[in-house]
Amino acid sequence: MPKGLILKTSNNTESDCYELGLFGADMLARDAVLMIEPRDNLFLLNVDSDTLTGTFEAASKGGYKLVPYAWRGLYPYQVKIDPSNGQRTIAHAKGCLDHLNIPAHRLLHEFETDALSKLLQAGGNGHQSTSSIVIPSSDPIEQIRLKLAKARKERGITNADYDRPSLQATTLWDYPKQSYGKTPKGNNKYAGVTPAFIQYNLIKRYTSPGDLVVDPMCGSGTTIDVCREEGRRVIGYDIVPAHPDVIQNDARHIPLDDNSVDLVFIDSPYGDNIKYNDSPLSFGNISAESEEFYDELEKVMVEAHRILKPGKVLGWLIGDQWVKHKFTPVGFKIYERLTRHFEPMDIISVTRRSQTSNTGIWHNRALRFNFYLRGFKYLHIVRKPSDEQSPQATERQVKWAQYDRTSAKGT
Ligand SMILES: C[S@@+](CC[C@H](N)C(=O)[O-])C[C@H]1O[C@@H](n2cnc3c(N)ncnc32)[C@H](O)[C@@H]1O
Repeated sequence: MPKGLILKTSNNTESDCYELGLFGADMLARDAVLMIEPRDNLFLLNVDSDTLTGTFEAASKGGYKLVPYAWRGLYPYQVKIDPSNGQRTIAHAKGCLDHLNIPAHRLLHEFETDALSKLLQAGGNGHQSTSSIVIPSSDPIEQIRLKLAKARKERGITNADYDRPSLQATTLWDYPKQSYGKTPKGNNKYAGVTPAFIQYNLIKRYTSPGDLVVDPMCGSGTTIDVCREEGRRVIGYDIVPAHPDVIQNDARHIPLDDNSVDLVFIDSPYGDNIKYNDSPLSFGNISAESEEFYDELEKVMVEAHRILKPGKVLGWLIGDQWVKHKFTPVGFKIYERLTRHFEPMDIISVTRRSQTSNTGIWHNRALRFNFYLRGFKYLHIVRKPSDEQSPQATERQVKWAQYDRTSAKGT
């Protein structure tokens, strides 16, 4: 049965959709568009006129820049449609969709697609808002809502199925809890478990459905669980696996072909502060105060570089150390080693939340004895160089839109 998808448009772009026989979207709808198959059902939500138009049949698979010049590349995730498909439009669309709990940009179940098509056939009902009016049960939209609720209940679908972390827009990342959604991601009892929103953000930004993600120090398998839910292929290794699908392997030798991987994620030990296991090969036995720690991890960087396809991304999570009155800038030292092999892309500061030292006693000690508790980790984002992405410094010209403070009002 066909799936469905609502894509957004505006008064500026709607006519292009019909003229080009093409729907387009930006990165926020990338995954859903790329999973569209021919004959799936599509709907167009004009956010200016608040109308929903459909039902269109996909005339191609979803893809990247099917018509490269369309919308000057602003909406590169595209799918072809036949604009002559029976089009019907309903007004007050956002209120209707909210009431039916059917969002744009998420793949719709077949029963949701069916309900929307029927609503369009019926021409809607002039339904305006869900917050300010009481909707009688005879209202056709209310009847559809009740049917959808029943279908979801029968299939065991709840809001937790759609619970996803927010995509982070700045270089300061924070999160409410280690996991999200209906099923656990990794094991939150595992010492050093990674907050799952980190892998979620990385794969959403830097990979597409079907891409291969590798985590060479996968521990309790957070990366595996996140990738599977988002339709990425994934391989996780660890020197001592703590998840049934993690493969036992030393990260200094990764048994994969050169140039075969789309993203590598690593949350390595940050020194010898946590005892992960008894393996003599664990990096968790080596002090971050010794150069040996960085030399051994650099071997992993070389392997990550070898297996990544050119232009693809490595994300490395790491924290600094302060122990017995000595500060070690582990994050800077790791970044320095990374940039011997990779191009820098960014540095993210990730809030540290569930630390054992995040207690009143430790906060008090930090003030009394004049030191700082670690408040953040680094997420280093680097890229394997490729010919296409490395403009020479001389080719770059940056035109700053400078703001003249002295002439600003009130100064
Ligand atoms: C911070 S934990 C990773 C946590 C993991 N991302 C998760 O969410 O469960 C670091 C991991 O590195 C692993 N490790 C240490 N030395 C290793 C090595 N030489 N090869 C592979 N894994 C290693 C440890 O066993 C540990 O599971």
